[in-house]
Amino acid sequence: MDYMRKKPLDPTAHHSSKLKKELKTMDLILLGLGAMVGTGIFVITGTAAAKYAGPSLIISFAIAAFSCVLSALCYAEFASRVPIAGGAYSYAYTIFGELIGWITGWLVVCEYLLANASVASGWSGYVHGFLDGLGIPFPNALRASYNAENGTYVDVIAICITFIVMFVVMQGAKKALRLNNIMVIIKFALVILFLVVGVFYVKPDNWTPFAPFGMAGITTGAAIVFFAFLGFDAVSMAAEEVENPQRDIPRGIIGSLAIATILYIGVTLVLTGMVPFSNLNVKDPVAFAMRFIDQNFVAGLISVGAILTLLTVLISMMYGLTRMIYAIGRDGLLPKGLSKVDSKTKTPKNATLVIGITSAILSGLVPLENLAQLTNIVTLMAFAIIAAGIIKLRKDFGDPKINEFKVPFVPVFPIVSMLVCFYLMIQLELSTWIVFGIWLVLGLAIYFLYGYRNSELGKNKE
Ligand code: ALA
Repeated sequence: MDYMRKKPLDPTAHHSSKLKKELKTMDLILLGLGAMVGTGIFVITGTAAAKYAGPSLIISFAIAAFSCVLSALCYAEFASRVPIAGGAYSYAYTIFGELIGWITGWLVVCEYLLANASVASGWSGYVHGFLDGLGIPFPNALRASYNAENGTYVDVIAICITFIVMFVVMQGAKKALRLNNIMVIIKFALVILFLVVGVFYVKPDNWTPFAPFGMAGITTGAAIVFFAFLGFDAVSMAAEEVENPQRDIPRGIIGSLAIATILYIGVTLVLTGMVPFSNLNVKDPVAFAMRFIDQNFVAGLISVGAILTLLTVLISMMYGLTRMIYAIGRDGLLPKGLSKVDSKTKTPKNATLVIGITSAILSGLVPLENLAQLTNIVTLMAFAIIAAGIIKLRKDFGDPKINEFKVPFVPVFPIVSMLVCFYLMIQLELSTWIVFGIWLVLGLAIYFLYGYRNSELGKNKE
């Protein structure tokens, strides 16, 4: 049996794709920011500061960003040398062969599905807060995921928003991204508003003690706020729809990551300067901080804006995921019907439907905390595989050509990247590791029962 059969590295694959090629650098930076800036900064920052890192959360963000920059460099080299849809999955398939390619794809499917569901669930929390504020009643049983003690059974709003986003994504990349671009601009305006107003209320005393939970708090904080950076790899998944992937994909990835890091550190600094960190364990810390200083109007604006803009994260996540399922289906590792492109909208309609429905079920039934922790562990594992992939790529295919993106200091950077990923993984809870193990076993089972026999590559070789 040949589990190591590899996709050929075909730099011309880009031209034979059926998807429209219409995206440019700016679209990609906005796609990256649309995918990244969301629940992480608007929701998780508060809890992470209160429970783990205090004001030193800015260092946690720096550690998480460092890990992501190293991974982004690896993604960028792959994106410029292997310009086909599917992101990490396609890269690992080309470099390590089918089995590891499939496992990587399976991890990233998990990442995006869970992140999608987490954001839908967080979004629903904001909407409920807003409805409560207006005094509009909502049945308790339908407010949140299953928790018999609290009397909640299913999160109806999270399910509805997931379906709405699914239909938007199904209408085609450009339309979905046009909406995305407007939302990213609003999101930026909100963050700037927060920084400009908040900076006048910063009390430097709030920054002491700077690291109330010591180094352990900082690193656990990093493993948690890592979530805020997820999504930059969505850019590389759009490769088949980009006019000039060699140039635009690396620019898109690195540009969006740099901007997000600056924003996150700025927001955390102002947030922990405005409010004593122990008060920040709330669901809407950014709006809460404004209420804390009696800027209720600004707080209201931020709440409505967050409701509106968390949608961009959902759109980008679902967009990236459907493209990856499309690529996996096209290779025969998942049923072929998933890679069928709709003749009118030129989008993979069936893949979008499957993703939308699965994500809606998860967001409706599984608690947010469980979804978010697992998202991080699978992503870190996929990042580590990609870093190892760069070392193998250089060994098998040599250095990049003049017009291709090149990771500096190979193999040092990829090795450091792997070490940082593993280090962050071991900060996560045992229960997260157990579910991670189960997901891997499930992935292996699907490969051996279905993928191996139906693989297009396998058929071609025969
Ligand atoms: N980075 C995304 C967010 O923070 C997943 O919502």
